[in-house]
Formats: sequence, structure tokens, C-alpha cells
Amino acid sequence: MTYRIGYLIGSLSSTSINRRLSKALIKLAPAELEFFEIGIGELPLYNTDLEAKLPAPVVAFKQAIESADGLLIISPEYNRSIPGPLKNALDWGSRPWGQNSFAGKPTAVLGASIGAIGTAVMQSAMRTVLGFLDVPQLGQPEAYLTVSPEVYGEDGTVHSEDTKAFLSSYLGAFSDFVTRNLADTPNRGEQAA
Ligand SMILES: Cc1cc2nc3c(=O)[nH]c(=O)nc-3n(C[C@H](O)[C@H](O)[C@H](O)COP(=O)(O)O)c2cc1C
Repeated sequence: MTYRIGYLIGSLSSTSINRRLSKALIKLAPAELEFFEIGIGELPLYNTDLEAKLPAPVVAFKQAIESADGLLIISPEYNRSIPGPLKNALDWGSRPWGQNSFAGKPTAVLGASIGAIGTAVMQSAMRTVLGFLDVPQLGQPEAYLTVSPEVYGEDGTVHSEDTKAFLSSYLGAFSDFVTRNLADTPNRGEQAA
């Protein structure tokens, strides 16, 4: 069984350390997880006025979320919270009212910062938003990461056996979590769509 995992990166930066982390995760992922990126950079700023005729990037974004078996959100922390572009994407995915694309999607959130706190406060804020959006969330393990070029190569190669082992075990737990959730609610994606 292969699971299609949509991944969202909460940073739009061309030199994003979270993008670098995503490459490392994809390299280390177990064979049953197949990743595809769900971009957030083309979404307009959320505005209720636009709901009358959803802009094409919003339609594509919602379809991509709905088509995924699970979601992995990899994001920095901005000012002790969720970066604006990512929050904007969550808001679009949740709308129009009654058409929440995120409902029921097994999801894990992790992130990297340059500091020691490793996005802990952003992840806490995400738990509140995703809880409201009816999203089953991976509880453990948590991953609060500091990304440095010595450990994370630009192409996703990880130069530390300890870090490799941690990321692999994180992905294994995520894969089990997705499997459990889909077994519990096999038609969930179709119902949400
Ligand atoms: C607007 C802004 C706010 C930030 N706030 C935090 C913060 O609250 N906590 C933190 O650990 N790092 C913070 N940083 C530093 C980020 O960890 C760092 O810029 C990191 O490289 C961002 O991730 P990215 O490279 O994937 O974009 C902030 C950076 C910016 C640009």
C-alpha cells in the first residue's frame, strides 16, 4: 500500500531551511510514503469577497489537499506563531463554510528554526487551528529542529547518524499514524470532497 502525502512548506524563501528539511525527510521516507508538494505561494490573500468565484490557485490548492492521503506541514516559526502565508493557506483550505478541505486528513506538523526553540510555539499554535479544522494530528513524536548546514546538506543529505535515526523514526511513526487513520475512516477523503 502506498500513501500519497501532500507536503506544505510554511516558508516562501528560496533559501528556506524548512525546504532543506523537507528534502531530508523525503530522502529518508519509508517506501510506502510518496510525497508531492502542495504550494502555498500562489494563493491570494484570503478575502471573503473572493469566495463568490474561487480563484484558480485556490481551487487547485483545495483539490490537492483533498486528493492527499495525509499531510506533512513543515514550517518556520514567525514571531512565536504561524507564518502569514501558511495561515493564509489554512484559511483558504477551510472555506467556503461547509467545504473544509482539511477535515479528516491525518496530519503531522514539524519545523526548523535557526534558534534553540525549534518552532515549538508555532507548532502549539498549529495544534489549535488544526483541532478546530477537525484534523487528526500526530501527537508523538514531536520534532523541534535546529537546521544547520553542517548537518543538513542543500540536497537533503543528512550528515549526522543521530539526526538521520530521529527523522527516520519520526517518519515511521507518521506512516503508522496515516495507516491507522485511513483504516478507521476509509472513505473520509471522498466524504470531504
Ligand atoms: C518575520 C520573522 C520572524 C521570526 N520569528 C522567529 C521566531 O519567533 N522564532 C524562531 O525560532 N525564529 C524566528 N525567526 C527566524 C527563523 O527561524 C529563520 O529566519 C528561519 O531561517 C526561517 O525559516 P526558513 O529559512 O525556512 O524561511 C523569524 C524570522 C522572520 C523572518
